[in-house]
Amino acid sequence: MLDNRDLEAEIYPLKNEERKSQENLGNPSKDEDNLKSTPPQSQLSRCRTVAFFLSLFLCLFVVFVVSFVIPCPDRPASQRTWRIDYNAAVTYDFLAVDDINEDRIRDILFLYKNTNSSNNFSQSCVDEGFSSPCTFAAALSGANGSTLWERPVAQDVAFVECAVPRPRGSEAPPSCILVGRPGSFTAVNFVTGETQWHHASSFSRNASILSPLLQVPDVDSDGVPDLLILTQEQEEVSGHLYSGRNGDQIGLRGSLGVDGESGLLLHVTRTGAHYILFPCASSLCSWSLKGLYEKVTGRDGPFKKDPLWESMFNTTTHRTLSHSSGAVRYLMHVPGNAGTDVFLVGSEACVLLDGQKLTHRWPPRAAHVLRKPIFGHYKPDTLAVVIENGTGADRQILFLDLSTGDILRSLALPSLPGGPLSTSLPTADHRSAFFFWGLHEPGSTSEMETGEARHSLYMFHPTLPHVLLELANISTHIVAFDAVLFEPSRHAAYVLLTGPANSEAPGLVSVIKHKVFAVDLLVLEMGMGTQCRTEDQRRWSSAQPQSYLSR
Ligand SMILES: *[C@@H]1O[C@H](CO)[C@@H](O)[C@H](O)[C@H]1NC(C)=O
Ligand SMILES: *[C@@H]1O[C@H](CO)[C@@H](O)[C@H](O)[C@H]1NC(C)=O
Ligand SMILES: *[C@@H]1O[C@H](CO)[C@@H](O)[C@H](O)[C@H]1NC(C)=O
Ligand SMILES: *[C@@H]1O[C@H](CO)[C@@H](O)[C@H](O)[C@H]1NC(C)=O
Ligand SMILES: *[C@@H]1O[C@H](CO)[C@@H](O)[C@H](O)[C@H]1NC(C)=O
Ligand SMILES: *[C@@H]1O[C@H](CO)[C@@H](O)[C@H](O)[C@H]1NC(C)=O
Ligand SMILES: *[C@@H]1O[C@H](CO)[C@@H](O)[C@H](O)[C@H]1NC(C)=O
Repeated sequence: MLDNRDLEAEIYPLKNEERKSQENLGNPSKDEDNLKSTPPQSQLSRCRTVAFFLSLFLCLFVVFVVSFVIPCPDRPASQRTWRIDYNAAVTYDFLAVDDINEDRIRDILFLYKNTNSSNNFSQSCVDEGFSSPCTFAAALSGANGSTLWERPVAQDVAFVECAVPRPRGSEAPPSCILVGRPGSFTAVNFVTGETQWHHASSFSRNASILSPLLQVPDVDSDGVPDLLILTQEQEEVSGHLYSGRNGDQIGLRGSLGVDGESGLLLHVTRTGAHYILFPCASSLCSWSLKGLYEKVTGRDGPFKKDPLWESMFNTTTHRTLSHSSGAVRYLMHVPGNAGTDVFLVGSEACVLLDGQKLTHRWPPRAAHVLRKPIFGHYKPDTLAVVIENGTGADRQILFLDLSTGDILRSLALPSLPGGPLSTSLPTADHRSAFFFWGLHEPGSTSEMETGEARHSLYMFHPTLPHVLLELANISTHIVAFDAVLFEPSRHAAYVLLTGPANSEAPGLVSVIKHKVFAVDLLVLEMGMGTQCRTEDQRRWSSAQPQSYLSR
């Protein structure tokens, strides 16, 4: 998300072409000057002159053809918009992207549950030993939505995450961990859909898994980082360690003796000690990986403790004294000057904590944040955090400068309950485009009352800080949403996964990709691209009347 070198090419190809054509024109004219200064004396030089003008003409002709006659070259056939429907299905809040078919356009992985696989892959639940209905994983081409692979992966899925350890520096394909219901624990190769390993899960039936899965340094000496999963059952958090290579459990379940919530961070202090940080019973808890490893395996591990951290957290409750931010809701890592800092969102305020001393980097900023913040660049190359202050009709979107805590911009954007989370994408000018879901036609609260409310997707870019462009509006239930760079430096789109809100009532599940034109905004802004006026730009202009100006 913080990769800010992307989207550049959409602008620069034009620039480069211009520069090239200028060079082509420039060099011959220099020759021309030289020619004039030496008067033609012989037949030979006349021939040379003719040859020179001929080649100059040819050169100009080629430049002319390339820049004006031949239309802008089409990128590898990638459809602007596609939509794939699955009937009588339910889906999960999960979308992953990666280039699966090596066409340099990223592809989409998602999960759905229905009786039959709806495409032509003639796979059924029974083939994999599940009863119908079961959960399928499907990979769709980012270019046109065609199915790349599809297969049953579990009876039902309780938890999925695509962050499986890979040997350092290896080109091993990415894979995803699925925790199934009832108890299965599977790693699936993202590229082929093959099962890499499968175990009966060791989690108890009632345990819920705290996200995310954590990758810990290799403890079983097989060269692959290992996996740490924390579960919560009856107000007690337990740790489970698994080999990153084959999913074998390392040691036994280790109880942490505290309550906890999702939003785990594996934090490495400046002294190189590993600590798990998590919100617990409204405060901030930490457990050293060393302590957990000893608890799970009964042996001493390759980890150490940090004396400062040991003194900051109560050794029996593993908690710190309450911060001025209220109950802890979210913890996020932020790159700092001297290592990684921690952004803490509480029920009353949010604050940036120093990654070693946990002191405030700036005074807590009072806000009622109920949803996970996102990061992006409001000013070029300066990281900002975007928080939502309040919900519903009072929602206010605040851009905070992470280095100072100052408010860069505040947008009033009413929201509907259950709207998808915001997201951001880097743009060519080292800033970010931000995507927010809000109420269609803000101000008309009647929509909210009649129950016909539509979610609208708005795009915001800091170069036009007073414009919120409405990209789409939708009344169906959105299960998952993301904005994705389908091709590095060129092709950004949003992906919507819609389906029934109730997993017991199957209905129409759709995956929709729609290209966004953030880039065209920048191209127009900088006065470039006058030759290649694409349809996208026309769309941008025609879309403008639908945008609304915020105060
Ligand atoms: C699933 O496929 C089987 C055979 O291919 C068919 O008999 C059944 O009606 C299908 N079920 C659904 C819900 O489409
Ligand atoms: C499967 O593919 C074949 C040929 O590609 C096509 O004729 C057939 O209708 C397809 N079946 C389904 C169920 O999509
Ligand atoms: C869809 O795109 C893929 C490349 O991503 C290509 O191989 C395939 O032929 C395309 N399918 C259709 C129906 O256009
Ligand atoms: C799971 O929870 C249910 C109800 O909450 C309870 O009856 C059952 O005993 C629990 N099972 C286990 C293994 O703890
Ligand atoms: C840690 O917490 C326990 C229980 O709240 C308390 O009794 C104990 O005094 C605390 N220890 C320190 C060092 O603050
Ligand atoms: C957040 O909203 C509350 C009122 O809902 C307001 O008092 C507070 O100042 C806002 N926070 C910021 C940082 O604007
Ligand atoms: C929003 O929805 C209305 C219909 O309710 C439609 O006319 C309009 O084109 C939509 N706007 C966008 C940007 O899709």
